Formats: sequence, structure tokens, C-alpha cells
Amino acid sequence: MKRRKAGGGYEGWLKYSLIEDAGMREAYAEKCSRLAVVGDSPVMASARRELKLALSGLLGIVPEESELPDRGPLLVAGVPDRSQLFEPLAAAGDLSGLGEEGYVIESSSDGRVYLAGLTDRAVLYAVFGFIRLLQNGEDLEEIRIRETPANGLRMLNHWDNLDGSVERGYAGKSLFFNNGEITDDLERIEDYARLLASCGINAAAINNVNVHKQETLLITDAYLPEVSRIAAIFRSCGIRLFLSVNYASPMEIGGLNTADPLNADVAAWWKSAVGNVYRHIPDFGGFLVKADSEFRPGPFTYGRNHADGANLLADALAPFGGLVVWRCFVYNCLQDWRDRSTDRARAAYDHFMPLDGDFRDNVLLQIKNGPMDFQVREPVSPLLGGMKRTNQLLELQITQEYTGQQRHLCYLVPQWKEVIEFDTRARGEGSLVARVVDGSLFGRRLGGMAAVANVGDAPNWTGHLLAQANLYGYARLAWNPGLSSEEIAREWVRMTFGRDWEAERVILQMLLDSYNIYEAYTAPLGVGWMVNPDHHYGPNVDGYEYAKWGTYHYADRDGIGVDRTVATGTGFAGQYHSPNSERYESRESCPDELLLFFHHVPYKHRLNSGKTVIQHIYDSRFEGAERAAELLTLWESIGERIDEELYGQVRQRLLHQREHACEWRDILNTYFYRKSGIADEHGRMIY
Ligand code: GCU
Repeated sequence: MKRRKAGGGYEGWLKYSLIEDAGMREAYAEKCSRLAVVGDSPVMASARRELKLALSGLLGIVPEESELPDRGPLLVAGVPDRSQLFEPLAAAGDLSGLGEEGYVIESSSDGRVYLAGLTDRAVLYAVFGFIRLLQNGEDLEEIRIRETPANGLRMLNHWDNLDGSVERGYAGKSLFFNNGEITDDLERIEDYARLLASCGINAAAINNVNVHKQETLLITDAYLPEVSRIAAIFRSCGIRLFLSVNYASPMEIGGLNTADPLNADVAAWWKSAVGNVYRHIPDFGGFLVKADSEFRPGPFTYGRNHADGANLLADALAPFGGLVVWRCFVYNCLQDWRDRSTDRARAAYDHFMPLDGDFRDNVLLQIKNGPMDFQVREPVSPLLGGMKRTNQLLELQITQEYTGQQRHLCYLVPQWKEVIEFDTRARGEGSLVARVVDGSLFGRRLGGMAAVANVGDAPNWTGHLLAQANLYGYARLAWNPGLSSEEIAREWVRMTFGRDWEAERVILQMLLDSYNIYEAYTAPLGVGWMVNPDHHYGPNVDGYEYAKWGTYHYADRDGIGVDRTVATGTGFAGQYHSPNSERYESRESCPDELLLFFHHVPYKHRLNSGKTVIQHIYDSRFEGAERAAELLTLWESIGERIDEELYGQVRQRLLHQREHACEWRDILNTYFYRKSGIADEHGRMIY
């Protein structure tokens, strides 16, 4: 395949540069000198093309294509029962447990390497898995890898609008839409699909969950012929296309005077609309729905609940194997500051827990990782593991809305790891979020992870080159939540920058420290927000304190934080299973980093760390800003080792981060010094 727009980060982690170590290259080349890819479906065509591309780039060879079952080195990719080439592999063990997406990579004593799975999609994953081994410099002798994904659904949500804008997008314009039309830059979509398939993404919704007027038409003939072209590209990479839909579609485009989920005409309208979608896209994934949330229409208008709403769509999609992904981001967004009983953090649980068990089998509830909204630090949503008889999808945000908007470096995998390793205690010890969402804890057939994508038409896809690690990392984690933040980062660094130990050491350190650094200079101790309203960038301590959107920290001259205890507050802490509920309920046992999420405390309250809250605020703002400056120094230390253009791109962003971290430090420190009147113990400069 021709590679256009090469350079500048466009190839992402599929950068197939020649492996410099000649010994290693030759050893690989010997194994890969002959190639047999069995099958010619679109997915197998992708597999073949990718292998050839990678081998020619990494090893500088054009393998001879051979399907003769003779002896000697051979790289064989395919579904085993389709060719006798796989006989030795089949004899070596039972493959039935691989399911639809699992794969094996195995070498045999006669020099063959098998890349196999039970479906074409699985073979494509095997191929990408194999390429990753080469890029990471792994030994191919006596290799025996068997991988199955933990999560059935590994989804991306794009918040893209037809006019080309991307809600909370920090990497340019939409990849899919432009000026009210579907893009004609399909080559770029092909490259995007390759990137996603290479790390195991298997589903993608292409339009914003806030479905505006024009986007409501995406499920009609006005757009389906074009949408189906994107779906075909996705299909060839094993990805199912989803669309976000407007709950009020039957009224807005169907000519009905209601969207009541229990109305027969409404049900008939959705059935017919869905049938039409499947005529265009036979493997259509289903609908993603934001209903009764932030002014979007939903079943509440008709006195119905979310199960009624979701089941209506589920019944229309079920005959075609389609899914409904229904979001739980439902809350009162106009909370009054005088009303201390309403708590946004409680909302998802309060709305959805009573409906546990009422949803159809093809509905998944998509639950944001925290109870608020993708803040740097939040507790895990108690709904995860609260519900036991409902399919659950964990929703993460890759796009860095509240985590530096891809101008700051913030590698988010450590944050996500904390979420999936949180023990909900739903079924005693070991009830990790990872097991809730993969379905295993409650024996659910469907589950997985979804995340808001961070890509756009920026030449390097994500604006900040290092933000590619978040896209890659999310996908790898969705495939295998057992991978560590460091393992994922290391893979990504090697695949992106090549195998240079010094550069690798430094970039790893930068990535792995970046989340803590970002947290250190922004809103303290889990209280969240403190950003400018609307665009959410930059410090503004009272930005939301006096806005109608009502998300509060309640800082006054005596103290700060939100009382969410059962004893004296909103009761949110009581939504957790024991002993998490007790742990959060008490000031003493509540983890420091979440103290202000659960408690309103005086500034002189002593944390478990031994510091007072106010001194912690000062110390971490100073330290955070210093460490942000070190990120730049670290990057500069490897300047010689990095491609000049890439080096320059990242350096620009780190320069900005260094400045902006000081702004955060100063605005927060001044605010809290003035509010509390308590001086910094170390007498540092506070304006
Ligand atoms: C956040 C974000 C919105 C988005 C919403 C959602 O509030 O700021 O842009 O629409 O989340 O997840 O639906």
C-alpha cells in the first residue's frame, strides 16, 4: 500500500523503520523469508498487506509468497481448518478456546511460525501481535503465545459533528466529517482503522453523543450510502461501526408527534429505520445513546424510565444482532448552590440502580469511570459493581478535556489502571472493576470498555505526539487489563521511536510521571474542576462555583470540600459496598487524594501524610510546577536521539506546559492564601 503523508507522527506506532541491529534483523528475516497468507476476504487482505508492509519496512525484505506445504522457514497466517499448512499446529493443541478473537503465535521446530485464529479477525490480531514482537525486538525462537481479549467490546466513541468540529477535540477537525458531508479522505480512514485494529479496537461510534439536527439524519438515506463506505473500511479491519442517535428522531425526522418508548407507532418507526440501516451496513454495530442528559431528549418526557427507552431501541436492533449502548451520564445539570441535598455524584446510581435487571440482553449501560465527569481524580463510580443483572461498559475519556487538552503531557493509563483495579467488593474481595466490565463477575455475556477518542485531522492524529500513547494504551488495556502502565508505555515508545535505550528510559519516565505531575498542580485532593467554564482549559478556582452548572468545592475562609458522607452530607459514600463505604465515610480512613471529594474540612485538617490541607495545597502546586519544568529538561536531554521534527513538536508543547503549570500554581496558591489567611510554612513566593 502506498504510504502518503509519512512523517510527522502520521504512522503512529505502526512506524516500520528498518531495525538497526543487523544480527536481529537477519534472524527475523530468515524466519520471514517466505510467507503464506491463507484466505482472501477483506480482513485477510488487510492482514496480508500489513505483513508485507511491516516486513519490508522493518526487515527490508519482500517475502516470497508460497502456499506449498514443503519444509523450511515459512510464516503462515490464517484460520487453521482452511489449509493443511496448519496441520502441525492443530496437532500441537486445542484451539477451540480461542473464541472469535483469540489467536496463537507459535513457532515449530522446522522453522515455521504460525499466526492463527478461528476467524479472519483473529488472524488479523495475530498478524499485528507478530509485528509488535518484531518492533519490540522479541525473540522468535520457540515462541508460543496464546492471547484472548478480556473484553468483548473494545470501543471508541468519537464526539465528531457533521460540520467537521469535534466536541472536546484537541487535535484538529473531524476525521469523518467535513462541512456537512462525510469525508472523501478515505485513505486517512484506512490508516486510522489500521492503527485501531493493531491494538485490538473492535467497535467505533463515529458521531457525537450530542446528536444535533443534521446528525439526526445519519441513520437515513441522506447519509447512509456514505457512512457505509466508512463501515466497509472498518469491516476490513475487524471494527464494527456504531452511530449515536437522537432519542427524539421519530419526531424530528419521522413526522410523529411523540417519541414515547411505549407508543406502537414509535416502535414501528424505529424498526423500520433500523432495518434500513442494516440494508446499507449489514454488520452495523448499533446505537450509542445519550438521553435525558444535559438537555438531550429522552424517555423522561413521557414519564418513562431509561429501561423503557433503551429496550425500545434494543428490540428494533435485536433481529440484526445490533446493540444499544446507553449512557448513564444522567444528572441535574442546573443544581442550585443552596440545595445541599442534590448531589451530581449520586445521580447515575440513583437513576439506574432501581432498573437493574430490567434491560434487554443486547443493552449495555455505559458508565463513566467516576461519578462526576472525567476529572483528574475521582473515586470510581459506585454503579460499577452496584448493578449485578445488567451488562456494563466502562467509559473512559482519552481526549484530555480536563487533563490538559493535549497541550499538557498526561499519560492516562495509570489513572485507568487504578479504576479497573478498584475492588468494588460486590462479591467479596477480588470483585475488581475489570471483572465487572468484562462480564465475568456476574456471568454477563456482554461487556467491555468504551472511551472518548482523542484524534482529529492533525498530521500526527492527536496534536501532542505523546498523547498517541493514550490511544494506544487504552486499546491495549481494553484487550488485556492485566498489562501494566509501564509495559504498555514501553511497547508504545519502542514502536514509535525505535529501540534506543536512553531515549526509551527518558520517555518512559516522562510518561509514567506525567499523571501525578498534572494532578499536583491542578485541583487538589480530589475536589475537581477549578477550570474555566465552557472550554475547561486553565485555572479558575471559582469557575464553576458561581456558574449555573453547579459543580461546587464550597471553599470559604474556614475550609473546603464537599460533604458526601451518610452521617452529615449527601449520602453518596453510602452507595459503595462495604468496606469501601465506611472507608470513604470517615475522614481518617478516606484516602488523602480523595479527601475533598468526600469531606468538607478546615484548612488545618491534617492529612494521613502528616501535612495540613493548606500546606499540601502549597507544596504540591510548587512541586507540580517544578516537575512540569523537568519534563522539558528530560525531553531536551534526548534531543539528539529523536527525529528532529518530532522532537520540535513535543518541545513546543512542553514549553507551554511549563508556563501554564506556573499559572496553575500561582492562581491556586494566591486564591487559597487569601481565602484562608494561612501562610506557606516555607515562605515561598505567593502573589
Ligand atoms: C462532559 C463534556 C461534554 C460532553 C459530556 C458527555 O460534560 O464537557 O462536552 O457532552 O461530558 O459526556 O456527554
